[in-house]
Amino acid sequence: MTASPPAHDPDALHWVEACTVEALERRSLIGVFIGGEHLVVAQSDGAIHAAERKCPHESADLAKGRCSGGRLMCPRHLAWFDLKTGNVPGWDVRSLRIFPTRVSDARVFVGLPGVPKAPRPPEPF
Ligand code: FES
Repeated sequence: MTASPPAHDPDALHWVEACTVEALERRSLIGVFIGGEHLVVAQSDGAIHAAERKCPHESADLAKGRCSGGRLMCPRHLAWFDLKTGNVPGWDVRSLRIFPTRVSDARVFVGLPGVPKAPRPPEPF
């Protein structure tokens, strides 16, 4: 299983733990609240993806949908969002926000922009 490639400069992101790989293997879709964001973490086609949890069409909870073939299905109107681009071909709806993921020590981390970093220890004199 691989993490999705970062869409941004990975050094400019704050990496926040979202769940364990084991949890994602039991349920291929997990809703999480991290760094002030409601997200859905999905495993599909051997890759791990993260996206905003609220459907941009009419706000359905995408953690209650399902994923297959690198796409995430909204449970309300059955739109299929591409988990790499966030697009839904043929729909007039804005793209889903997609976030990069990493796996380290069997834990899944999501790269969030704009989340304050932990304070640095004081500089030595
Ligand atoms: S609420 Fe998700 S497609 Fe309509």
